[in-house]
Amino acid sequence: MTTLAPTASLSFKDWMGEELRRVEEALSAWVPADAPAGLGLAMRYGVLDGGKRLRPLLVQAAAQAVDGHTGAALRAACAVELIHAYSLVHDDMPCMDNDVLRRGKPTVHVQFGQAQAMLAGDAMQALAFELLTPEDSAELDPRLQARLVGLLARGAGHSGMAGGQAIDLASVGMSLNEEQLRRMHELKTGALLRASVDMGAACGKAAPVALAALSRYGHVIGLAFQVVDDILDVTQDTEVLGKTAGKDQEHSKPTYVSLMGLDGARRHAQQLHEQALQALAASALPGTQRLREIADLVVHRQH
Ligand code: IPE
Ligand code: IPE
Ligand code: MG
Ligand code: MG
Ligand code: MG
Repeated sequence: MTTLAPTASLSFKDWMGEELRRVEEALSAWVPADAPAGLGLAMRYGVLDGGKRLRPLLVQAAAQAVDGHTGAALRAACAVELIHAYSLVHDDMPCMDNDVLRRGKPTVHVQFGQAQAMLAGDAMQALAFELLTPEDSAELDPRLQARLVGLLARGAGHSGMAGGQAIDLASVGMSLNEEQLRRMHELKTGALLRASVDMGAACGKAAPVALAALSRYGHVIGLAFQVVDDILDVTQDTEVLGKTAGKDQEHSKPTYVSLMGLDGARRHAQQLHEQALQALAASALPGTQRLREIADLVVHRQH
């Protein structure tokens, strides 16, 4: 086991730049260009060179908070980004949100056709689990492999992202109450963000009470993230977002803005932010600075 180099003295910007560079390099090495019949090109188009990489940053920050194994954390960071990027490819397809712009580029189905977009998403999902299960077990302890696979599968599947996406599509044109809306957001977006934190934390060692507090942080920051996504859909320009603004209302999606109004949604994001910081304090871990900075970023981001 190696431990993470101390990076606590870096500014958040420099820390982020360094982590993003490592994740980008690793993804570029792991996502194959030579998959059959152009599939690799569609996969690389969907995952490389774009996106805020918030989930990998959460994995790395959580791993650093528990002095986790660097190699494991990098695999986990790339795996969760692959699941996220696949969810975006499918989310944009005509049978779901029917979007033509993502990460400032034409969506994968616009560029490569619907069948290839579907397959690219399928293959990105499988590749995520390949990264977590290297054949050489010296690369990743088999018990940790199993733990990471379990966390990611639960964040991605019927009780996580895919389940939440099903609720999202079933809720078009409906007005959900706060509990129903929270449930949808917790699943469709929150689950994968929480899994990112849990996976990072699984790469190291911490007392159960600290792990539970980190997980609580992941839960509230996951919810806050989608509340802010709903706000930005209304307040931000397409050019800044790199995806079509205003489409929630256009598609009659229930959102925190439609439920609470803009000011109410902003206040709610602020409350969740405070809860996230409280959870970090309750963890009593000394190295949660990056998680705190990410919480600020999630709530104050402009895209
Ligand atoms: C967008 O996620 C979809 C949601 C889950 C709200 P991000 O805002 O993290 O998208 P990228 O990865 O930066 O493109
Ligand atoms: C998507 O939510 C959540 C996913 C699981 C991809 P949205 O449909 O609101 O995401 P955007 O706004 O298209 O990025
Ligand atoms: Mg959607
Ligand atoms: Mg969408
Ligand atoms: Mg949205």
